[in-house]
Amino acid sequence: MDGNFFIKTKIIFGRNSIERLSADDEKAVIFSSNSMLRYGFTNEVINAIDMPYFLIKDIKPEPEEKEIGKYVEMLEKQKPDVIIAIGGGSVIDTAKAALYHYKKAKLVAIPSTSGSGSEVTRASVISKNGLKYSIVAKHIAPSLAILDPRLPEKMSSKLAAITGMDALAHAIESYVSNTSSPFTKAYSIKAIKDIFEYLPESVNGGEEAREKMHYAACMSGIAISNARVGICHVMAHKLGIFNIPHGLAVALLLEETMKFNMQNKRARKEYDMIAREIGLENGGELIEKIKELKKKVGIKGMREYVKEEEYEDKIELMASMASDDKLLDFNPVKAGKEEIKEIYWKAYGCL
Ligand SMILES: [Fe+2]
Repeated sequence: MDGNFFIKTKIIFGRNSIERLSADDEKAVIFSSNSMLRYGFTNEVINAIDMPYFLIKDIKPEPEEKEIGKYVEMLEKQKPDVIIAIGGGSVIDTAKAALYHYKKAKLVAIPSTSGSGSEVTRASVISKNGLKYSIVAKHIAPSLAILDPRLPEKMSSKLAAITGMDALAHAIESYVSNTSSPFTKAYSIKAIKDIFEYLPESVNGGEEAREKMHYAACMSGIAISNARVGICHVMAHKLGIFNIPHGLAVALLLEETMKFNMQNKRARKEYDMIAREIGLENGGELIEKIKELKKKVGIKGMREYVKEEEYEDKIELMASMASDDKLLDFNPVKAGKEEIKEIYWKAYGCL
């Protein structure tokens, strides 16, 4: 076996760790979610950096490609040498997409949700007409991530649930990815254990559980930044057409895509290995455990979120886009359009 494992991002973690943000740069542009501004965390950032800054707020969730141009223009005008993104995955991905074009700054990511892993990855997921795709480049990976558990404590239970399921999908998909390694698997498995242990309590608002989930999501992020994700994410990105938040879309497809991957001997063995790490017998039990977890955290079946006629209307387009997605190369089983359609229908409960 040969390979490589790379992480560009320095991670500072712990309560009040925003205070440890210091930068010896000349000018900052801060991308902030409105909630982080409201809770005063963005002001803490401004106080900590002590340098001229320009603030960008009112960033839309699930960034659209057509929105990015205006942020690139702002960066070109402001000429920052550091960009600070404070907010959920959408805020961090918007900053990364703008940095992809601007290129002349380093990035500091301060996540307020616990799921996307965007604070450590080289990818930014953006939408075009509702369909999501990833931009991947080394220079958009954050140089620094600050994991201050006070921020995710502000998440609603619903957001804690769906972002937590996104983190679980990252850990599981990276574990069975064609490019996984002993190094990525170490991060994946630790994240999986912590997510099963702490997500329900995190959804109930438990402080310690919120902190554990924040770190678990980052560990999943480290795993996917090296091993990438697979068919569950490919298909979930296309479900974005129904305006379903990313974490929910992933949660709705996780078990069916795992069942599909089980036709591959290696993947089956690897699901069994995950199962044993959390005290279960095999991959089948792992899938049941995921179902249970979803129930506990209030995630229902696909038909609760999308009307059947609309689903049927879009399934051809989603399957055709998904079957062309390059991320499928990382999945243990090759999937064609017809197989993807079948998984979409199974996830809907129709087959
Ligand atoms: Fe994800």
